[in-house]
Amino acid sequence: MYKINENYLKLPGSYLFSTIGKKVTAYTAAHPEKSIIRLGIGDVTQPLAPAIIEAMHSAVDEMGSAETFRGYAPDLGYEFLRNAIAEGDYRLRGADIKADEIFVSDGAKCDSGNIQEIFSTDNRIAVCDPVYPVYVDTNVMAGRTGTYDPATEMWSDIIYMPCLAENGFAPELPKETPDLIYLCFPNNPTGSAVTKAQLQIWVDYANRTGAVIIYDAAYEAYISEENVPHTIYECEGARSCAIELKSFSKNAGFTGVRLGYTVIPKDLKCGDISLHALWARRHGTKYNGAPYIIQRAGEAVYSDAGKAQLKKQIAYYMKNAKTIREGLETAGYTVSGGVNAPYIWLKTPENMTSWEFFDYLLERAGVVGTPGSGFGPSGEGYFRLTAFGSYENTLAALERIKQI
Ligand SMILES: Cc1ncc(COP(=O)(O)O)c(C=O)c1O
Repeated sequence: MYKINENYLKLPGSYLFSTIGKKVTAYTAAHPEKSIIRLGIGDVTQPLAPAIIEAMHSAVDEMGSAETFRGYAPDLGYEFLRNAIAEGDYRLRGADIKADEIFVSDGAKCDSGNIQEIFSTDNRIAVCDPVYPVYVDTNVMAGRTGTYDPATEMWSDIIYMPCLAENGFAPELPKETPDLIYLCFPNNPTGSAVTKAQLQIWVDYANRTGAVIIYDAAYEAYISEENVPHTIYECEGARSCAIELKSFSKNAGFTGVRLGYTVIPKDLKCGDISLHALWARRHGTKYNGAPYIIQRAGEAVYSDAGKAQLKKQIAYYMKNAKTIREGLETAGYTVSGGVNAPYIWLKTPENMTSWEFFDYLLERAGVVGTPGSGFGPSGEGYFRLTAFGSYENTLAALERIKQI
């Protein structure tokens, strides 16, 4: 008789977005005359930029001709895209990453979930709290997290690093020593970023203690401040302790197109074993490469036209972020984020829980956001709004919130 992977049974149900959906449906049924504005989900809304569409069309045409047809893509990615990434995201930023240290994939969610596979199940992981849930849940599936305590909503073997207003939503070095450290900056859900000097402290710590940092830079394109690093490889010594994850979802609207990449520098070694070689083996065995058409679309992100068009798209979302941030401040809320990220993180008023505030905002303003407690226990008492809606809806939502 077969057995299942019982670690899956340990996962507490993820009720966040389904509970939000149910509450919104119930509210709409009870108040069919009221319009709802959704500023909850982290999905983009603007169409793909013309340079990207053009590249996709021409790649589609190539697939229709015997001379230019492509079959399986190289499993680590086409040279043209890896070269464009190495140049655009690293060399131009003064970071020393070569094209053959980049592994193209179909997005950062898969990579952030799969990367733990190349590490021992004995490793201790450290995560920020609140956190993008994929890092925790995939380690639960692998059996790395111990037992779950429903009262504290914490796993016995995870090291939690609270990110609260008191520490500027930046984690402090943990008291216990982790083996794998998940960091995401600019951050989902708090919308906060760290300076290069702050990130350097983590790189030095990881090199000193022999830990690996898994650095999720999915929101890098939203950085507006000078002293915030765009890649962890801007920090000295990161090549020997950090893996970086990137996505084309938020910088170029590829949430439905699917493209991302992972960087593993060749200097990153456990004794004399190269993590680059392990991930290459894993990628080659379990992944057959992102589609040619999509990789050509990704290449267009780095063209002059693509860069100019995407700059405007980011500016559009960041205008929304400013509108939300300033509107909430005017209405008397305590707010952070929204400067280097498309997320605004607000403190719930009058000690409401995150879910109480969700109901309050839905009933009084018809606005849907995401309760902070859904991202971890330290998210309780906070609430996330996103800048990914239309400008008109964002303005309307803020007008409603101000009138509560
Ligand atoms: C921190 C973080 N990493 C990764 C992802 C997923 O990226 P992708 O669409 O490339 O899978 C998200 C999506 O919301 C995210 O917030």
